[in-house]
Amino acid sequence: MTPPVDDLIVQAQEQFAQVADAAALENAKARFLGKQGALTAMLKGLAKLDPEQKKAEGARINQLKQHIEGLLTARRAELAQAELDKRLALETIDVSLPGRGRGIGGIHPVIQTWQRVEAIFRSIGFDVADGPEIENDWTNFTALNNPENHPARSMQDTFYVSQNPAWMLRTHTSSVQVRAMEKGILPIRIICPGRVYRNETISARAHCFFHQVEGLYIAENVSFADLKQTLYFFVQEMFGKEIKIRFRPSYFPFTEPSAEMDISCLICGGTGCNVCKHTGWVEILGCGMVHPNVLENCNIDPNKYSGFAFGMGIERITMLKYQIKDLRIFSENDLRFLKQFENVV
Ligand code: DAH
Repeated sequence: MTPPVDDLIVQAQEQFAQVADAAALENAKARFLGKQGALTAMLKGLAKLDPEQKKAEGARINQLKQHIEGLLTARRAELAQAELDKRLALETIDVSLPGRGRGIGGIHPVIQTWQRVEAIFRSIGFDVADGPEIENDWTNFTALNNPENHPARSMQDTFYVSQNPAWMLRTHTSSVQVRAMEKGILPIRIICPGRVYRNETISARAHCFFHQVEGLYIAENVSFADLKQTLYFFVQEMFGKEIKIRFRPSYFPFTEPSAEMDISCLICGGTGCNVCKHTGWVEILGCGMVHPNVLENCNIDPNKYSGFAFGMGIERITMLKYQIKDLRIFSENDLRFLKQFENVV
């Protein structure tokens, strides 16, 4: 028997109301209007009726069908609206919220020091020279008076790129001296800042890469006094007028005589503290008069020309300036550290 009209409508209403999306609604629709649906079954039942009944029942089924289709259309619209509301809610922008703001990058403290060193030396007539980070044996070692198999070579642990011929990551910026001298344009007055590499175990005091600035002045009659005065000017500009300097004899294969320069301790001013290990002095660079062998290796006549050279670590200068105790922090990209240098130049 056909279910009563109201009953079927109530069922359709209930089932359409329960579905949560369009696909589920289409399934529910099939239960009433589909091939296996209730209305189809009712239409099939018409065949058994006599003409009079058939007419009345047919009209009733048609009404029922129209009503259910109406319910379906209404529910479809409802679901579509709900979907739209959901999307709009997600896309809503609260214009009263504060803006996010853009973080502005800062210049890395090592690069800030690099720039400062460049500015100081430029102010007294030095040019800035550059060289490759992958060097050959001649430029990194041999021309700088490190003969092959000489123990001085083991002063620096080298990363080799190839063996025969030997190419390596430069161990110091002194290689740029050689390149400048080999160009043969004299006098030479340059500084060479750049990155260098050494096969060292990473610790608070050593790293496998760091930065150096090399200085070179070659002309007629350059003396150790010129070297001293130039470096004195530099540290006063870098650290302040009250800084004192002292030189200690040292050894580098490419300079003769060689020295290491100390500055008075920035923390205690020379009276002695933990930073200077109670000596009042901290080492800052190596320097000396360019060795005649180096001049000759680079086709410069040592009887006519003389010169001085120096080399210092940029990280070291930065550590002294800002009392940083661990070299590793420079390459860790820790924003808490880097942000402290955002506005320092
Ligand atoms: N090249 C040396 C080093 O890496 C630093 C140095 C010392 C450079 C003395 C110089 C110099 O030009 O005269 O340890």
